[in-house]
Amino acid sequence: MDHFLYRNGVLHAEDVPVPRIAAAVGTPFYCYSTATLTRHFRLFDEALAGTDHLVCYAMKANSNQAVLRLMADLGAGVDVVSGGEYARAVAAGFPGDRIVFSGVGKTRAEMRAALSGGIRQFNLESEPEMLALNEVALSLDKVAPVTVRVNPDVDAKTHEKIATGKAENKFGIPIARAREVFAEAAALPGLRVVGVDVHIGSQLTDLEPFRQAYRKVAGLTEALRADGHRIDRLDLGGGLGIPYERSNTAPPLPVEYGDMIKRELAGLGCEIEIEPGRLIAGNAGILVSGVIYVKSGEGRDFLILDAAMNDLLRPAMYGAYHDIVPVAEPGPGVDQHPYDVVGPVCETGDTFARQRDLPPLAAGDLVAFRSAGAYGAVMASEYNTRPLIPEVLVKDDQFAVIRRRPDFDEIINRDTIPPWL
Ligand code: LLP
Repeated sequence: MDHFLYRNGVLHAEDVPVPRIAAAVGTPFYCYSTATLTRHFRLFDEALAGTDHLVCYAMKANSNQAVLRLMADLGAGVDVVSGGEYARAVAAGFPGDRIVFSGVGKTRAEMRAALSGGIRQFNLESEPEMLALNEVALSLDKVAPVTVRVNPDVDAKTHEKIATGKAENKFGIPIARAREVFAEAAALPGLRVVGVDVHIGSQLTDLEPFRQAYRKVAGLTEALRADGHRIDRLDLGGGLGIPYERSNTAPPLPVEYGDMIKRELAGLGCEIEIEPGRLIAGNAGILVSGVIYVKSGEGRDFLILDAAMNDLLRPAMYGAYHDIVPVAEPGPGVDQHPYDVVGPVCETGDTFARQRDLPPLAAGDLVAFRSAGAYGAVMASEYNTRPLIPEVLVKDDQFAVIRRRPDFDEIINRDTIPPWL
């Protein structure tokens, strides 16, 4: 469920007509709903009610400061994967003890920054990383709280580019070697082992792979405790999928996910952390774009939009499906027309959808890409020197630009021409 609905024939974001925002900021732009973001965080929080838990929002999905401040105020923790994301978390007001640091290759500089600024835990992904963190912690006279991310060798049954839990993937430590690695970690004076971490992939639409992974983590936890480790915390990662295509069966709900977690793991008495990103932000955002031209090709019509692959990369990168809807609600009985929906970038990959049925559209009309709040703005680039597009946050009948569009001078002035040229 989200808060982008037609009212009086016009798509609204909460109580704000989308064309009003378009008139104020120009297209294309991202638009997020405070109510949907809030609702999705609460769904997870409530799904784990009754167990000690922290929902750590994976900010890689959408790291705008306003979104982060909202999450921080709701009591969320946050999952970061770079020094930049750590700085964003701190700037948005997350206390260090609610920041979890994940990522395959944390640098010493990133470790130093997080240890100095405050951190809930590092999720370690390899032995070399473990040794580096030990050294950094000792040099700062600190002890770093850590989990070790295990790779459970489970098929997440999702797109190959976002599956992370198979043995051939670069993530974590093979679960078969986990006891050995935990023993090494426990022997290092700069580290304090607090738990086990796992994350098997993103956009999972079935609970079974999660269940398999969590069962393996439960077994490992018992073995580690028998080895004398204090395992107080389980970080179960993110990955619960969202319905991109309305005709498909809906993925499991957070409450079903939470019930499964409790069934599989409650007996261990650990604090549970989860790291959802997409489910919190995905359907809380749309990308609004204007039609520049409608071009008739050989046997097909192209809808040429002012948004392009640099603004929303997912279709080009993963062949991802995003629902595209006209901002003006089509009247009853309007015949659909198949369009190839494309952007102006000079690549065939800059195609959002082929032969997508839409009501007849004309230059100047507005369309909205649904489910664009996660992995949209954060993956954008300025390819073709197209400025990063604005982000807008709506709350009830108010809206605010939460990232403005840079002008061409700002972009050009980031380059420097060497004096010797
Ligand atoms: N925790 C870790 C360690 C992760 O690597 C990820 C996502 C998450 C949590 C959040 O997963 P989520 O709940 O959002 O599924 N750019 C891709 C998605 C990449 C996901 C990477 N890791 C896309 O647009 O589909």
